[in-house]
Amino acid sequence: MDTLKLSEPIRQRVRSAARVVVFSGAGVSRESGLDTFRGAGGLWERMRPEELATPQAFRAEPERVWQWYAWRFRQVAEASPNPAHRAIARLEAVFPFYTVVTQNVDGLHRRAGSRNLLELHGALAHAFCNRCGRNRDMGEAIAESPESPPVCSCGGKFRPGVVWFGESLPEATLAGASDAATSCDLFLSVGTSGTVYPAAGLIELAYRAGACLIEVNPEPTPFSRLMDLCLTAPAGEALPALAEAMERCRWPST
Ligand code: APR
Repeated sequence: MDTLKLSEPIRQRVRSAARVVVFSGAGVSRESGLDTFRGAGGLWERMRPEELATPQAFRAEPERVWQWYAWRFRQVAEASPNPAHRAIARLEAVFPFYTVVTQNVDGLHRRAGSRNLLELHGALAHAFCNRCGRNRDMGEAIAESPESPPVCSCGGKFRPGVVWFGESLPEATLAGASDAATSCDLFLSVGTSGTVYPAAGLIELAYRAGACLIEVNPEPTPFSRLMDLCLTAPAGEALPALAEAMERCRWPST
């Protein structure tokens, strides 16, 4: 994307912003070669989420669920952060209070260098016992038992460290994300369809708090009408240009 020229009202909001939230979804990792969930070619177009991403599915078919997450783990291991992840990490140096809140479990924000990161739906890098809660590295668990979930010393089964449909989000993480959304001046929504709650509720919180809202998504979402600016382009193109434009706002002399 060529040099992005922000309107004066947006520039003023960027110049005065102290607290910034970046809220991301699967679309931010699309250009890293990872599928999104919904829309054309999405994972849930080819598989039924209730058969793979629920505690009930894990109880009914632990091998099938485990093998599917092992497949996703390998895809993520072969992927790398793209220019969108890197631009999001780069902006952390521009604003005093900056929080990245992601629905993604791929760990690519962390690998891109984001530090103040809240992973609402957990992380594929971990596994935990579904009886005693003992944590372990997912890669090691898969290497030990690629076809079925390894059994814990307590007799429980290890499962991927992600939040499944019907499960609650980690309380402290959700509370931290809600606080950040409620007190932010600027809220970027990147690569999410905004259809899964309670995560999508963060956009509403930021809107009600009067934050300046910017959306980056090639497609419209249910929240596009609330936005102050919509960049209808792939995140890997839009985010580097947006980061540059924001740096120019904050550091005009550079
Ligand atoms: N750049 C930016 N956005 C993109 C790109 C791209 N290159 N490619 C696709 N998108 C957009 C799509 O238009 C869509 O709006 O990313 C969005 C992806 O939406 P979903 O697949 O619904 O993913 P997400 O919003 O993250 O889903 C939320 O649902 O399945 C659960 O737990 C899973 O965290 C996930 C949650």
